Amino acid sequence: MRVNDAIHFCPPARVVFSCGSRSQLPALLQRLGYKHGVLVTDTFFTGQTPWVDEYITAARSCGIETTVYEGGMPDPSTILCDDATRTLRAQMTAVPDHVIALGGGSNIDLAKALCLTLVEGAPIKNVVGTLEQAPRCLPLIAMPTTSGTGSEATPGAILVDPENATKVAVMDNQLRPIIALIDPEFTYSCPPKVTADAGIDALTHAIESYLTLDSSDFQRNGNPDPGYSGRSSLTMMFAREAICLCARYLLRAYRDGSDTEARIGMAYASHYAALSYGSSGLNAIHGIAYAVAGITHQSHGSTNAVTMPYVLDELVDIRHRELLDIARIFGIMDADERAAVAKLPRLIREIVGGLGIPTTFAEFGLKEEQLPGLVQDALEVKRLADAFPMPDAASAYQRIITRAFHGQMLEGRASA
Ligand SMILES: NC(=O)c1ccc[n+]([C@@H]2O[C@H](COP(=O)([O-])OP(=O)(O)OC[C@H]3O[C@@H](n4cnc5c(N)ncnc54)[C@H](O)[C@@H]3O)[C@@H](O)[C@H]2O)c1
Repeated sequence: MRVNDAIHFCPPARVVFSCGSRSQLPALLQRLGYKHGVLVTDTFFTGQTPWVDEYITAARSCGIETTVYEGGMPDPSTILCDDATRTLRAQMTAVPDHVIALGGGSNIDLAKALCLTLVEGAPIKNVVGTLEQAPRCLPLIAMPTTSGTGSEATPGAILVDPENATKVAVMDNQLRPIIALIDPEFTYSCPPKVTADAGIDALTHAIESYLTLDSSDFQRNGNPDPGYSGRSSLTMMFAREAICLCARYLLRAYRDGSDTEARIGMAYASHYAALSYGSSGLNAIHGIAYAVAGITHQSHGSTNAVTMPYVLDELVDIRHRELLDIARIFGIMDADERAAVAKLPRLIREIVGGLGIPTTFAEFGLKEEQLPGLVQDALEVKRLADAFPMPDAASAYQRIITRAFHGQMLEGRASA
């Protein structure tokens, strides 16, 4: 227990989790009274798996008709969302009564956005940001096929805004899926790069939310229903378990995609990490990673991965106890606690390298003259900078970004 916690915890209403659980969905939706849905996915799933056809047939036998949208793409944009809205509204005679997402974080985010736009057909950019009023939106059922983003349990949809080359978020608790259906078998076909990017995203969510601002210090700005509200004993419980699972299974799943125990372990890790960060929120790793992605256009997971070790280094004093917990989970058993904590960022960097992801901003393709702009861009994601548990986020971001560029680590400095 933490006596000052101020918990506002928002999990999905139903979590259905087991190998093969996808076969339960039609009967569950029938029981809930749904009649006509949209299934948002991409051509990998319609073309190379039987899952979409199997679902449509089984749902039809339960009296549910489904329109398939297979235009999902990695990192969906506001333009894709508006196109999909137009296409689907032209195809259907009535507004559907539910939306199903099948895919990675990209398809889930597109589906979340469509839950808003399919109702009235307005462009998604009309509703970007944190919404003033709870919006009218369709209920979402999310079926993740990667173990990573946890979007099946979060209030946000992240979309690329091609007008200014950044990602924008649409955020409200109404957008959280009403059913998170996690069938680890969906993830067995992930190629190594998708496994690596998604898996390190899950570990980032778990660690970053374990270390983030306390719920008692989190500024809710008068919002009675905040999507994110800081860490608590409840979120930290899920984060800790997710870190344990990643420590055991992340590299295993990457090295051998047929290791089903590791695949299942990462599916749990991803969802538990989301139950943590989906209410606590995140901070500097994602804040800086969004800015790195804005310049490099590299994947979400890899931009988090390259940033994480250097952010951990910055937190060794202010989050000593929590970093020691994590160090012990990763098997760093030095009796000297400061030495153990100092070793953790380097170990995380080795894991990142072991996943085939660059470990410095220089290797990642950034140029030294881009660093000041990067600091500014990262600080502009204010909700994430505000949740960084350091007194002066601006100078902390500057130090982190400089060290990440040159690959300098605290442990190395200590022993130099
Ligand atoms: N809303 C949120 O809370 C949240 C959180 C984190 C990340 N995101 C977003 O999620 C996106 C990244 O999602 P992701 O890492 O899951 O990847 P992704 O959804 O972008 O998918 C990457 C590629 O992997 C393929 N793929 C997915 N599952 C597969 C499977 N089982 N077998 C074979 N191929 C498969 C997809 O078809 C796609 O081509 C980013 O756009 C990011 O911004 C959102």
